[in-house]
Amino acid sequence: MPEMILAANWKMHHTLDKARGFVRELLQQLAELRKPGEPSVVIFPAFPHLAAVAEEAEGTRIQIGAQDCYIREEGAFTGEVSPTQIADTGASCVLVGHSERRHILGDSDELVAQKLTAAIAHGLRAFLCVGETEDERASESSRSVVEAQLESALTASDEITAGNLVIAYEPVWAIGTGRHATVADAEEMTAVIRAKLIQRLGAQSGQEIPILYGGSVKPGLLAGYLASGLIQGALVGGASLKASSFASLYGEMKTAAQGAGSGQ
Ligand code: 13P
Repeated sequence: MPEMILAANWKMHHTLDKARGFVRELLQQLAELRKPGEPSVVIFPAFPHLAAVAEEAEGTRIQIGAQDCYIREEGAFTGEVSPTQIADTGASCVLVGHSERRHILGDSDELVAQKLTAAIAHGLRAFLCVGETEDERASESSRSVVEAQLESALTASDEITAGNLVIAYEPVWAIGTGRHATVADAEEMTAVIRAKLIQRLGAQSGQEIPILYGGSVKPGLLAGYLASGLIQGALVGGASLKASSFASLYGEMKTAAQGAGSGQ
């Protein structure tokens, strides 16, 4: 059974004070995050807040990740941040290919593949985001779009293992819109992703890489996505900004993780 993961993508939100305060409040509400266990929790703050959030989370189960990285280790690349610099803050994960990077900031499949390769080569766990736009869904090309995104990224690195890759299926039309994918649609795309992972990486890694759903996930919705065990968690935007709402989502994840652990 792949690891279960609840992840918060804060995007370009929070001040430094709020980012630190979130972690303190979450640890007050969920004291168990001070001990090992499942589900895993990952927070992706903005770059300037990585070190401070990592400091607040030190010694707990909360892992920290950056929202993007550059493909080189160092050099004259003004404004970019390298995987080594990310790791230096105490972060251990990085998002690559988020739809806002692909569709607003112009990251191509090729650049996403290079970022994934660089992140993994420098010891970060890459959270590769894939997903189709509304037009692509309407023209029934969701499957081919997501397969192409995966194909390009998965063939770029020969160092991928179940420990250094997580896939987040985030249909673009569901991000920040309040319109989430149905459980059946999310599961159908998860099956496409799982088949591609197995085809490219072999049965062992392919079966163990966690697949998360993202797109307007809110408390009350998450349990439905997790019920069958096909989806191993969520990458949450808006509903991850308040500690109370993120703690509710954690509760839903934990119930699902316990069900999976007892073979239900
Ligand atoms: P929302 O949960 O706000 O729809 O954002 C999802 C997302 O983009 C997470 O990466």
